Amino acid sequence: MADTLAGPAPEVPDAVPEFPMPRAGRCPFDPPPALKGLQGEAPLTKVRLWDGSEPWLVTRYAEQRAVLGDPRVSADTDRPGYPTKASPGAGDGKLSFIMMDDPEHARLRRMVTAPFAIKKVEALRPAVQRIVDGLIDDMLAGPQPVDLVEAFALPIPSLVICELLGVPYDDHAFFQDNTKTMVHRDATPEQRGRASREVAGYLAGLIGRRLAEPKDDLLSSIAARITAGEIDHQQATEMALLLLIAGHETTANMIALGTLALLENPGQLALLRKTDDPQLVASTVEELLRYLNITHLGRRRAVTEDIEIAGQVIKAGEGVIMVNEIANRDPEVFPDPDRLDITRDARRHVAFGFGVHQCLGQPLARMELQVVYGTLYRRIPTLKLACDLQDVKFKHDAFIYGVHELPVAW
Ligand code: HEM
Repeated sequence: MADTLAGPAPEVPDAVPEFPMPRAGRCPFDPPPALKGLQGEAPLTKVRLWDGSEPWLVTRYAEQRAVLGDPRVSADTDRPGYPTKASPGAGDGKLSFIMMDDPEHARLRRMVTAPFAIKKVEALRPAVQRIVDGLIDDMLAGPQPVDLVEAFALPIPSLVICELLGVPYDDHAFFQDNTKTMVHRDATPEQRGRASREVAGYLAGLIGRRLAEPKDDLLSSIAARITAGEIDHQQATEMALLLLIAGHETTANMIALGTLALLENPGQLALLRKTDDPQLVASTVEELLRYLNITHLGRRRAVTEDIEIAGQVIKAGEGVIMVNEIANRDPEVFPDPDRLDITRDARRHVAFGFGVHQCLGQPLARMELQVVYGTLYRRIPTLKLACDLQDVKFKHDAFIYGVHELPVAW
């Protein structure tokens, strides 16, 4: 053997970087430096996942949109080449239409689109304002410091999605705990499966009750599709599960992480605090979505026919990952991308994805965040972090980035 004749073979540097990569400890809002390095090098590169597979990573904004808008890429996790999830055993189950392709994806999505239309969502704004004001009243009346995640960030989207779906908010501790397990990167497949089955069983029960006794809520309109023979009980449950999870975990993380980002950028916070211009509040929301990128592990797809991206052919059966985190920091599209600037026009960001799977709930998320960012710092102008930034626990371990807790005082 060559080893015995000429000593051990020299180590060949590993050219394919591992994904996901760690963030730099001192920059919790920035993408991992190695990821930005890859963006600077090429629009497309191979990465290695935990199981040894090597999908393509698309690093730049234009190319990410090209792939996500291409009907020859599939969101179906069963397709050959679909990149495995971020950790062993993660997300093996199908979560309704987010993991399907057209025409079935479109057929199911259409069934639940109506309540998320801009007009419908705007009609909810006064109710969301009341929720936000009520939670701030409670915080102001209670002891300090308070955990902003528990007292404010989680209840707002949970209350709203419960109201829309017709899920009793009194059960929020049950589904929030289970959702936390479902999106925890280090949860075992068994833990994740159990949590998902618990919530699914609970929702299936609620849908069953709506079949017998419909109400004026989204679960009842989903149940009506079962009655009409368009979907079965299982499909209805998966759809409700998708809406419940997507509807609260994401927005809650944007509220807490966004607040922290503003507290760490006092100049920007001062601008926001003193404005009564709804346009500036709206642009703050877009900029924070661009800057923070809470769905930090990327859109994943399998390529079903050969496609050419930036001169490189991605073959049918290969996997591809689009990390919006670096697309939204692409200097070609967002000048000085690492600066949080609430006055910039960030509306082209891809924090809600792109293409047919673009976030269904984005009008709702936007409205909730506008109410929050337009209210919290004006009503509590002295809001401050009640611990050192180094002591804040970031959700490196979750599919959706954010903070586990945010102790604040005023
Ligand atoms: C700030 C909050 C939110 C962020 C950052 C966010 C982000 C995203 C992203 C990136 C996708 C695309 C996934 C993909 O292409 O694979 C998506 C899809 C989706 N989101 Fe959101 N989301 C948010 C809030 C919400 C809310 C409030 C709902 C309400 C129920 C919701 C429901 C959905 C659904 C149903 C899909 C699947 C759409 C489809 O596959 O056609 N999201 N979201």
